[in-house]
Amino acid sequence: MIIARTAVELRAALDSKAGSVGFVPTMGALHVGHRTLIEKARVENDVVVVSIFVNPTQFLAGEDLSKYPRREEADFKICELSGVNVLFYPEIDSMYGTDEISIKAPDVRGYILEGASRPGHFDGVLTVVMKLLNLVRASRAYFGKKDAQQLSLITQMVKNFFMDVEIIAVDTVRESDGLALSSRNVYLTQEDRVEALKLSASLKRATHLVMQGVRETNVICRVMMDILQPLKVEYVAIVNRRFEAIPEVIIGDTIVLVAARVGSTRLIDNVWM
Ligand code: PAF
Repeated sequence: MIIARTAVELRAALDSKAGSVGFVPTMGALHVGHRTLIEKARVENDVVVVSIFVNPTQFLAGEDLSKYPRREEADFKICELSGVNVLFYPEIDSMYGTDEISIKAPDVRGYILEGASRPGHFDGVLTVVMKLLNLVRASRAYFGKKDAQQLSLITQMVKNFFMDVEIIAVDTVRESDGLALSSRNVYLTQEDRVEALKLSASLKRATHLVMQGVRETNVICRVMMDILQPLKVEYVAIVNRRFEAIPEVIIGDTIVLVAARVGSTRLIDNVWM
């Protein structure tokens, strides 16, 4: 595995490889969810590139940027064992200068739900993903469905800017008890861990209701809110794939989303129907 720390090193590494490139951008603290993305990229491409970069522009003031889990040694090992060909591990000043142009998320879709709770977050995500996609020039880039709004906005950016990369959506990986894998799960205490299961339990209940024929989204949201008590719920929402609120579930075009605080940790989860 080649470790590239600058854009120049990355280009040299990629120039030494032939064939299609599958790219998995990450912020490190790699878990089985990331390994699933890497595995899919490996099966579908000749070369696999992973980036590890804790992107400061997507954290708001007061968020967990300084304490975001950093696990350099373990992450390098996971990449190596997973068959990654090139690991891009840049410093901040390889990625950002001063007084830069940045990407602005769309006014509505970028500032509702996650964007309302974290205004400006998606501007930072889209800016760094644009930089990374331009650097790696991948054939395909892999993103988890757990960050559904991020995935939807990146797909839109690629379309709006006529970028030549296929965005691949990969299913959320869960623990056996239902908890969606997240790098932030390391912040959970044992009690938090139990409370955190309310997120996946509420989504499971929503799925059952839909399977029983319930379609009214306000009814489903109310039931979910009851299950989530006494967590500090930031939102429960049911949208279509364009992230527009819908009065009724449309099978094949619906995402049910939840964001809540468990102790001091903010968790998100969703289910696609
Ligand atoms: O999902 C993430 O880990 C990050 O938002 C991403 C896409 C790597 C951009 O920093």
